[in-house]
Amino acid sequence: MTTTSASTFLKPFALRYSAGSSPRVVRRHTLPASEFRNLSLSDALSVFEIEREAFISVSGECPLHMDEVRHFLELCPELSLGWFEEGRLVAFVIGSGWDKDKLSQDAMTIHVPGGSTVHIHVLAVHHKCRQQGKGSIILWRYLQYLRCLPTVKRAVLMCEDFLVAFYQKAGFKDIGPSGIAVGPLTFTEMEYALGGGAYLRRNSGC
Ligand SMILES: CC(C)(COP(=O)(O)OP(=O)(O)OC[C@H]1O[C@@H](n2cnc3c(N)ncnc32)[C@H](O)[C@@H]1OP(=O)(O)O)[C@@H](O)C(=O)NCCC(=O)NCCS
Repeated sequence: MTTTSASTFLKPFALRYSAGSSPRVVRRHTLPASEFRNLSLSDALSVFEIEREAFISVSGECPLHMDEVRHFLELCPELSLGWFEEGRLVAFVIGSGWDKDKLSQDAMTIHVPGGSTVHIHVLAVHHKCRQQGKGSIILWRYLQYLRCLPTVKRAVLMCEDFLVAFYQKAGFKDIGPSGIAVGPLTFTEMEYALGGGAYLRRNSGC
Protein backbone atom coordinates (compact mmCIF):
# COMPACT_ATOMS: atom_id res chain seq x y z
CA MET A 1 0.00 0.00 0.00
CA THR A 2 1.42 3.32 -0.95
CA THR A 3 1.37 6.66 0.77
CA THR A 4 -0.62 7.97 -2.16
CA SER A 5 -3.57 5.68 -1.60
CA ALA A 6 -3.49 6.33 2.15
CA SER A 7 -3.53 10.07 1.62
CA THR A 8 -6.39 9.63 -0.83
CA PHE A 9 -8.40 8.18 2.04
CA LEU A 10 -7.38 11.01 4.32
CA LYS A 11 -8.24 13.71 1.79
CA PRO A 12 -11.72 14.46 3.19
CA PHE A 13 -10.13 15.47 6.50
CA ALA A 14 -7.92 18.01 4.76
CA LEU A 15 -10.74 19.33 2.62
CA ARG A 16 -13.18 19.70 5.47
CA TYR A 17 -11.50 22.88 6.58
CA SER A 18 -11.30 24.49 3.19
CA ALA A 19 -14.98 25.16 2.64
CA GLY A 20 -15.53 27.68 -0.09
CA SER A 21 -12.27 26.98 -1.90
CA SER A 22 -11.97 24.79 -4.95
CA PRO A 23 -11.33 21.14 -4.02
CA ARG A 24 -8.29 21.22 -6.30
CA VAL A 25 -6.65 24.29 -4.79
CA VAL A 26 -6.64 24.05 -1.02
CA ARG A 27 -5.39 27.34 0.40
CA ARG A 28 -5.06 27.64 4.15
CA HIS A 29 -4.66 31.03 5.71
CA THR A 30 -4.99 29.71 9.23
CA LEU A 31 -4.06 26.35 10.71
CA PRO A 32 -6.96 23.90 10.72
CA ALA A 33 -8.76 23.60 14.06
CA SER A 34 -8.50 19.84 13.87
CA GLU A 35 -6.92 17.57 11.32
CA PHE A 36 -6.09 13.88 11.00
CA ARG A 37 -3.28 12.87 8.66
CA ASN A 38 -0.44 10.41 8.23
CA LEU A 39 2.71 11.43 10.06
CA SER A 40 5.94 12.27 8.27
CA LEU A 41 9.57 12.47 9.31
CA SER A 42 9.08 16.14 10.17
CA ASP A 43 6.66 15.08 12.94
CA ALA A 44 9.21 12.79 14.65
CA LEU A 45 10.24 15.35 17.25
CA SER A 46 6.64 16.12 18.29
CA VAL A 47 5.95 12.39 18.52
CA PHE A 48 8.97 11.83 20.69
CA GLU A 49 8.11 14.75 22.97
CA ILE A 50 4.75 13.13 23.74
CA GLU A 51 6.42 9.76 24.24
CA ARG A 52 9.03 11.24 26.53
CA GLU A 53 6.38 12.63 28.85
CA ALA A 54 4.04 9.61 28.57
CA PHE A 55 6.56 6.83 29.04
CA ILE A 56 10.16 7.84 29.76
CA SER A 57 9.23 10.11 32.65
CA VAL A 58 7.15 7.25 34.11
CA SER A 59 9.20 4.09 33.54
CA GLY A 60 12.44 5.23 31.91
CA GLU A 61 11.46 3.27 28.80
CA CYS A 62 9.29 4.00 25.78
CA PRO A 63 7.81 1.91 22.95
CA LEU A 64 9.81 3.70 20.22
CA HIS A 65 13.03 5.62 20.72
CA MET A 66 13.67 8.63 18.49
CA ASP A 67 15.66 6.61 15.91
CA GLU A 68 12.86 4.01 15.81
CA VAL A 69 10.19 6.70 15.36
CA ARG A 70 12.17 8.03 12.41
CA HIS A 71 12.74 4.50 11.10
CA PHE A 72 9.01 3.67 10.96
CA LEU A 73 7.93 7.10 9.71
CA GLU A 74 10.41 6.68 6.89
CA LEU A 75 9.49 3.06 6.09
CA CYS A 76 5.71 3.07 6.52
CA PRO A 77 4.22 6.53 7.10
CA GLU A 78 0.94 5.17 5.70
CA LEU A 79 0.59 3.07 8.88
CA SER A 80 0.72 6.13 11.14
CA LEU A 81 -1.95 8.64 12.03
CA GLY A 82 -1.62 11.98 13.78
CA TRP A 83 -4.29 14.23 15.23
CA PHE A 84 -3.35 17.89 15.02
CA GLU A 85 -5.17 20.79 16.65
CA GLU A 86 -4.17 24.17 15.26
CA GLY A 87 -1.05 22.55 13.89
CA ARG A 88 -0.01 20.90 17.16
CA LEU A 89 0.19 17.14 17.53
CA VAL A 90 -2.23 16.06 20.27
CA ALA A 91 -2.40 12.30 19.67
CA PHE A 92 -0.85 9.73 17.38
CA VAL A 93 -0.63 6.07 16.41
CA ILE A 94 2.41 4.43 14.80
CA GLY A 95 2.17 0.98 13.24
CA SER A 96 4.17 -1.26 10.94
CA GLY A 97 3.45 -4.33 8.85
CA TRP A 98 3.73 -7.81 10.32
CA ASP A 99 2.97 -11.31 9.03
CA LYS A 100 2.93 -13.80 11.93
CA ASP A 101 0.21 -14.82 14.41
CA LYS A 102 2.05 -13.55 17.47
CA LEU A 103 4.44 -10.67 17.94
CA SER A 104 8.07 -11.60 18.42
CA GLN A 105 11.15 -9.50 19.16
CA ASP A 106 11.62 -8.92 15.41
CA ALA A 107 8.27 -7.13 15.27
CA MET A 108 9.69 -4.38 17.46
CA THR A 109 12.08 -3.24 14.76
CA ILE A 110 10.96 -4.45 11.34
CA HIS A 111 8.24 -3.49 8.87
CA VAL A 112 6.88 -6.26 6.67
CA PRO A 113 5.57 -4.50 3.54
CA GLY A 114 2.15 -5.78 2.53
CA GLY A 115 1.85 -7.83 5.74
CA SER A 116 -1.69 -8.92 6.63
CA THR A 117 -1.22 -7.70 10.21
CA VAL A 118 -0.54 -4.19 11.44
CA HIS A 119 1.50 -4.04 14.61
CA ILE A 120 0.51 -0.94 16.57
CA HIS A 121 3.72 0.07 18.32
CA VAL A 122 2.37 3.05 20.14
CA LEU A 123 -0.77 5.07 20.80
CA ALA A 124 -0.31 8.17 22.90
CA VAL A 125 -2.19 11.34 23.72
CA HIS A 126 -0.57 14.59 24.83
CA HIS A 127 -0.80 14.75 28.62
CA LYS A 128 -2.88 17.95 28.51
CA CYS A 129 -5.49 16.25 26.34
CA ARG A 130 -6.03 12.93 28.14
CA GLN A 131 -9.33 11.67 29.54
CA GLN A 132 -11.26 13.65 26.90
CA GLY A 133 -11.98 10.72 24.61
CA LYS A 134 -9.10 11.52 22.22
CA GLY A 135 -7.29 8.21 22.68
CA SER A 136 -10.47 6.26 21.88
CA ILE A 137 -11.31 8.51 18.92
CA ILE A 138 -7.92 8.35 17.19
CA LEU A 139 -7.78 4.59 17.74
CA TRP A 140 -11.24 4.20 16.19
CA ARG A 141 -10.30 6.40 13.20
CA TYR A 142 -7.06 4.48 12.74
CA LEU A 143 -8.90 1.13 12.70
CA GLN A 144 -11.44 2.49 10.20
CA TYR A 145 -8.53 3.71 8.10
CA LEU A 146 -6.86 0.26 8.22
CA ARG A 147 -10.07 -1.28 6.86
CA CYS A 148 -9.38 0.63 3.66
CA LEU A 149 -5.95 -0.94 3.18
CA PRO A 150 -6.64 -4.02 1.06
CA THR A 151 -3.98 -6.37 2.47
CA VAL A 152 -4.61 -5.70 6.15
CA LYS A 153 -6.74 -8.25 8.01
CA ARG A 154 -6.03 -7.46 11.64
CA ALA A 155 -4.25 -5.15 14.05
CA VAL A 156 -2.28 -6.35 17.06
CA LEU A 157 -0.57 -4.63 19.97
CA MET A 158 0.91 -5.41 23.34
CA CYS A 159 -0.05 -3.44 26.40
CA GLU A 160 0.39 -3.49 30.14
CA ASP A 161 -2.43 -5.11 32.11
CA PHE A 162 -3.94 -1.83 33.29
CA LEU A 163 -4.78 -0.89 29.68
CA VAL A 164 -6.43 -4.19 28.69
CA ALA A 165 -9.90 -2.81 29.54
CA PHE A 166 -9.25 0.33 27.46
CA TYR A 167 -8.41 -1.74 24.38
CA GLN A 168 -11.25 -4.21 24.99
CA LYS A 169 -13.65 -1.28 24.98
CA ALA A 170 -12.24 -0.35 21.56
CA GLY A 171 -13.03 -3.87 20.29
CA PHE A 172 -9.68 -5.62 20.82
CA LYS A 173 -9.55 -9.22 22.12
CA ASP A 174 -7.08 -10.43 24.72
CA ILE A 175 -5.03 -13.18 23.02
CA GLY A 176 -2.84 -13.96 26.01
CA PRO A 177 0.46 -12.99 27.52
CA SER A 178 3.07 -11.59 25.18
CA GLY A 179 6.36 -13.44 24.88
CA ILE A 180 8.10 -10.07 24.93
CA ALA A 181 9.17 -8.35 28.13
CA VAL A 182 11.02 -5.07 28.60
CA GLY A 183 13.00 -5.30 31.82
CA PRO A 184 10.44 -5.96 34.56
CA LEU A 185 7.49 -4.95 32.32
CA THR A 186 5.27 -7.72 30.98
CA PHE A 187 2.52 -7.33 28.40
CA THR A 188 -0.76 -8.76 27.18
CA GLU A 189 -1.20 -9.21 23.44
CA MET A 190 -4.42 -7.80 21.98
CA GLU A 191 -5.95 -8.37 18.55
CA TYR A 192 -8.53 -6.49 16.47
CA ALA A 193 -9.99 -8.34 13.47
CA LEU A 194 -10.59 -6.19 10.42
CA GLY A 195 -12.53 -8.94 8.66
CA GLY A 196 -15.23 -8.18 6.10
CA GLY A 197 -13.04 -5.48 4.64
CA ALA A 198 -14.32 -5.90 1.11
CA TYR A 199 -17.91 -5.16 2.15
CA LEU A 200 -16.86 -2.27 4.36
CA ARG A 201 -14.61 -0.87 1.65
CA ARG A 202 -17.48 -0.87 -0.85
CA ASN A 203 -19.69 0.98 1.62
CA SER A 204 -17.36 3.33 3.42
CA GLY A 205 -16.04 5.63 0.73
CA CYS A 206 -12.50 4.25 0.98
C1 LIG B 1 -3.81 5.39 27.23
C2 LIG B 1 -4.18 6.66 26.49
C3 LIG B 1 -3.79 6.53 25.03
C4 LIG B 1 -5.70 6.84 26.59
O1 LIG B 1 -6.06 8.02 25.92
P1 LIG B 1 -7.12 9.04 26.58
O2 LIG B 1 -7.44 10.05 25.55
O3 LIG B 1 -6.62 9.53 27.88
O4 LIG B 1 -8.33 8.03 26.86
P2 LIG B 1 -9.88 8.26 26.56
O5 LIG B 1 -10.28 9.57 27.15
O6 LIG B 1 -10.19 8.02 25.13
O7 LIG B 1 -10.48 7.04 27.34
C5 LIG B 1 -10.48 7.06 28.68
C6 LIG B 1 -10.63 5.64 29.15
O8 LIG B 1 -9.36 4.99 29.12
C7 LIG B 1 -8.99 4.56 30.42
N1 LIG B 1 -7.59 4.89 30.65
C8 LIG B 1 -6.88 5.87 30.09
N2 LIG B 1 -5.63 5.86 30.60
C9 LIG B 1 -5.58 4.88 31.50
C10 LIG B 1 -4.58 4.39 32.37
N3 LIG B 1 -3.35 4.91 32.40
N4 LIG B 1 -4.90 3.34 33.15
C11 LIG B 1 -6.12 2.79 33.13
N5 LIG B 1 -7.11 3.22 32.35
C12 LIG B 1 -6.84 4.24 31.53
C13 LIG B 1 -9.82 5.42 31.36
O9 LIG B 1 -10.08 4.72 32.55
C14 LIG B 1 -11.11 5.67 30.60
O10 LIG B 1 -12.02 4.63 30.79
P3 LIG B 1 -13.58 4.95 30.96
O11 LIG B 1 -14.03 5.52 29.63
O12 LIG B 1 -14.15 3.63 31.29
O13 LIG B 1 -13.65 5.98 32.06
C15 LIG B 1 -3.52 7.93 27.13
O14 LIG B 1 -3.90 7.99 28.48
C16 LIG B 1 -2.01 7.96 27.02
O15 LIG B 1 -1.48 8.50 26.06
N6 LIG B 1 -1.31 7.39 28.01
C17 LIG B 1 0.12 7.38 28.01
C18 LIG B 1 0.67 6.51 26.92
C19 LIG B 1 0.13 5.08 26.96
O16 LIG B 1 0.07 4.45 28.01
N7 LIG B 1 -0.23 4.58 25.75
C20 LIG B 1 -0.78 3.24 25.57
C21 LIG B 1 0.27 2.20 25.42
S1 LIG B 1 1.02 2.16 23.82
